[in-house]
Amino acid sequence: MESFLKAIERRDLHIAVVGLGYVGLPVACMLAQAGFRVVGIERSGDKVERINQGSSPIEGEEPGLAEMLAGVVRSGKLCATSDYAACRDVRAVFISVETPVGDDNKPAYTALRSALASLGPHLARGTLVIIESTIAPGTMQRVVAPALEAASGLRAHEDFHLVHCPERVMVGRLLHNLRHMPRAVGGMTPAAAQMAVALYRTFVEADLDATTALNAEIVKTTENTYRDVQIAFANEMALVCEDLGADVWEVRTLVNKCPYRDMHLPGAGVGGHCLPKDPWLLLTNTSAGFPARLIPAARAVNDGMPLHVADLVVDGLRAAGKDIRGARVAVLGYAFLENSDDTRNSPSAVLVERLRALGAEPVIHDPFVAAYRGDLRERVQGCDAAAVMVRHGEYLRLDPQDLVRWLASPVVVDGRHVFAADAARWVYRGVGGPQQNLDA
Ligand SMILES: NC(=O)c1ccc[n+]([C@@H]2O[C@H](COP(=O)([O-])OP(=O)(O)OC[C@H]3O[C@@H](n4cnc5c(N)ncnc54)[C@H](O)[C@@H]3O)[C@@H](O)[C@H]2O)c1
Repeated sequence: MESFLKAIERRDLHIAVVGLGYVGLPVACMLAQAGFRVVGIERSGDKVERINQGSSPIEGEEPGLAEMLAGVVRSGKLCATSDYAACRDVRAVFISVETPVGDDNKPAYTALRSALASLGPHLARGTLVIIESTIAPGTMQRVVAPALEAASGLRAHEDFHLVHCPERVMVGRLLHNLRHMPRAVGGMTPAAAQMAVALYRTFVEADLDATTALNAEIVKTTENTYRDVQIAFANEMALVCEDLGADVWEVRTLVNKCPYRDMHLPGAGVGGHCLPKDPWLLLTNTSAGFPARLIPAARAVNDGMPLHVADLVVDGLRAAGKDIRGARVAVLGYAFLENSDDTRNSPSAVLVERLRALGAEPVIHDPFVAAYRGDLRERVQGCDAAAVMVRHGEYLRLDPQDLVRWLASPVVVDGRHVFAADAARWVYRGVGGPQQNLDA
């Protein structure tokens, strides 16, 4: 322990980061910027190549990341490889591979198990292994420790140290959150937590709370479940307001003037890698027959929102005297979040599938997603309706009068409250209202 802490102080510690995605890449950059020699282990050969050229594979707006990556690669502090043999002389390993759930909502730890199996043979005695991926409560004990023991032939807590320190980064604010978000540092032993706290202190400027691995697992999955449930409440309120002929946005503003109320933003659905699966991870290891009611209900409400947008498209077209069958519908935004290229669990994908099933022809535009980039006007021109699914800056800057001019019929469905309902003469259908017709 003493020598580990000294090595941190002297920056004389070789570190590996396994999985260079939205989480692993900025973590690797931060550690390299803090002065450590870092090797990134990444399965994708394309990403390895780009990173070694000093070019970020993340396309969305990520303030500071591209510059930091270029700098640490140029200085030789960070390099990437797919070869786990590079872990031979590291003394700390961060693992940040994806942890999705399957169709049964149970974790599919394929990437995590594979990373542990590949790391094991190269694991040196005394190494600190930190799992940053989000995992179900109990996973450190049931999956990570036994898998790494089996692959390495070493004993957990004696020969190597285990910590779960979940990430709180957010796409669009990766570096900012890494520096400024407090962290729950969950050691499987108090000594392991202490080692990890010292390491994170080299770049985190916020609280680092040492706790147990189980607590850290619960904390992370709970904070995302909290958000999912809150959004579901806001979405249900949007549906209530639509039904009552009210405007949820005005209602929300007034509700939130009441002390201790914080109604979230309703919208066209919840996507990304994390929120759609973390509530299921939280429930994974509860006892058989555990009566979870609220959390699955919230998931169902949020999953239903892109389908609701499809209903609004049908309704808007009908109000304009058009049938959904054969209609060309512009879908504006395919990423799950504004100004990002991340399309994982995209609500737009659900909308597109539903539109096709209804006989419509979706025409997709997204300025950040390579497959759907292009001139917005050309994409929208001649479509029968447009549905705004993402609050990208380009759509916020769009003049609604232009949008209406480009469309063959003036039907706009606003899934993200981008326009005011009375911003143009159109058939306007907003998630959460208010609605507007041409004769209004
Ligand atoms: N994206 C976020 O904003 C965010 C925030 C907090 C927590 N998390 C959690 O962090 C974890 C990673 O998420 P992400 O968004 O960075 O995922 P990602 O898919 O962007 O990155 C994972 C990377 O790991 C690589 N990989 C997979 N298996 C590998 C293996 N065996 N060896 C080497 N590389 C391998 C993949 O190729 C990919 O580049 C997840 O558990 C997620 O829930 C993500």
